[in-house]
Amino acid sequence: MNRKKILVTGGAGFIGSHLCERLLKEGNEVLCLDNYFTGSKENVIHLLENPYFELIRHDVVHPFHVDVDEIYNLACPASPVHYQYNAIKTIKTSVMGAINMLGLAKRLKAKVLQASTSEVYGDPHVHPQPESYWGNVNPIGIRSCYDEGKRCAETLFMDYHRQNGVKIKIVRIFNTYGPNMNPADGRVVSNFIVQALKGEDITIYGDGTQTRSFQYVDDLVEAMIRMMGTGDSFIGPVNTGNPGEFTMLELANLILELTGSKSKLVFRPLPSDDPKQRRPDISLAKEKLGWEPKVPLREGLIKTIAYFDDKLKQ
Ligand SMILES: NC(=O)c1ccc[n+]([C@@H]2O[C@H](COP(=O)([O-])OP(=O)(O)OC[C@H]3O[C@@H](n4cnc5c(N)ncnc54)[C@H](O)[C@@H]3O)[C@@H](O)[C@H]2O)c1
Repeated sequence: MNRKKILVTGGAGFIGSHLCERLLKEGNEVLCLDNYFTGSKENVIHLLENPYFELIRHDVVHPFHVDVDEIYNLACPASPVHYQYNAIKTIKTSVMGAINMLGLAKRLKAKVLQASTSEVYGDPHVHPQPESYWGNVNPIGIRSCYDEGKRCAETLFMDYHRQNGVKIKIVRIFNTYGPNMNPADGRVVSNFIVQALKGEDITIYGDGTQTRSFQYVDDLVEAMIRMMGTGDSFIGPVNTGNPGEFTMLELANLILELTGSKSKLVFRPLPSDDPKQRRPDISLAKEKLGWEPKVPLREGLIKTIAYFDDKLKQ
C-alpha cells in the first residue's frame, strides 16, 4: 500500500484533530505538530494507539525538518480571545510558520496546504464573498494580527509558488464548528452551547441581527482533503464554508431549543471591527472540488452539544 507521510501543524487543535483522524482512517502516516497553545493532547490522545500516528511538540515559528509528502498548515490560534492574547506571537505564527512550512515543502518537493480564513475579506463590501474579492481589512486594528497575518501568509504561499514552483493549495475557511472546539475560546457556537448547558445567560454582541454562516467540521475536512488531491494547476484560494446564513438570534434560539435550556438572552456592545455579515460564495469549490457542505446546522449542533455536554460532566 502506498502510505503517504503527512504533517499536520496545529494538529492537536479543533480542526487539526479531525483532520488527523480522517487522514489516519484513509491509511496515511500522520505527524501531528503542535505547541499546545490552544490545542490539547486530549483531542488526539485516542489516536496514539495507531502506530502510524506521531505527536510532536514544536512551535512553527522555529524551523522544523522532517521527511513528508504533504503538509497541512493549520497552526495558529483562531479565536479572538486567543489570537489577541499575544498579538505579536499570532502574527509571527502566521508569517514565520508559513515561511518555515513553505521552506520545508520547497526542499522536499512536497505539497503544502494553507488553512487561510474568511477573515482575509475583513468587513466585506461584497456579499456573499467570492475568492476574487480583495477584502476590506483594517491593517491597524485589534483583529489585524490575525487577519493581516493570514493575508501575508497567502502572499508568501503565492510567492513561493511563483518564484520557486512550490506546490501550494490555499483554502479560505469560513466559521467552522463541531466537537473538540475549545470551550474557553469565546467563539459564538461554543459560547452559546456552554452558556445554555450551564443555564447561564446567553451573551449576544450587538442586537443579534448580524449574520454568520456555520460549517460543520466534517464538511471542512472533506473539502481540505479534496483540495490537497487536486492537480498542480489548481492552487486556490478556494472558499470552504456553509452558505446557509443565520442571525445570532436565530442561532441562540436553535441552541436553546436543542438543549432545552431556560437561559435568557442578554445583549452587550459589539466589539470593534466585528464584521456585520459573512457568507461564502462556494461556486469555485463546487466546480473544482465537486464539493458542497452536507451537514445541516441542526444536525451539526446536536453532535456538538453532545460533545460539550459530555465535557462539562467530566
Ligand atoms: N475554526 C474556524 O472557524 C476557522 C476559520 C477560519 C480559519 N481557521 C484556521 O484553521 C486553523 C485551525 O483552527 P482551529 O479552529 O482548529 O483553532 P485551534 O486554536 O483549535 O487550533 C490551532 C492549533 O494550532 C496550535 N498552534 C498555535 N500556535 C502555534 C505555534 N506557534 N506552533 C505550533 N502550533 C501552534 C494550537 O495549539 C492549536 O492546536 C487555524 O489556522 C485557523 O486560523 C479556522
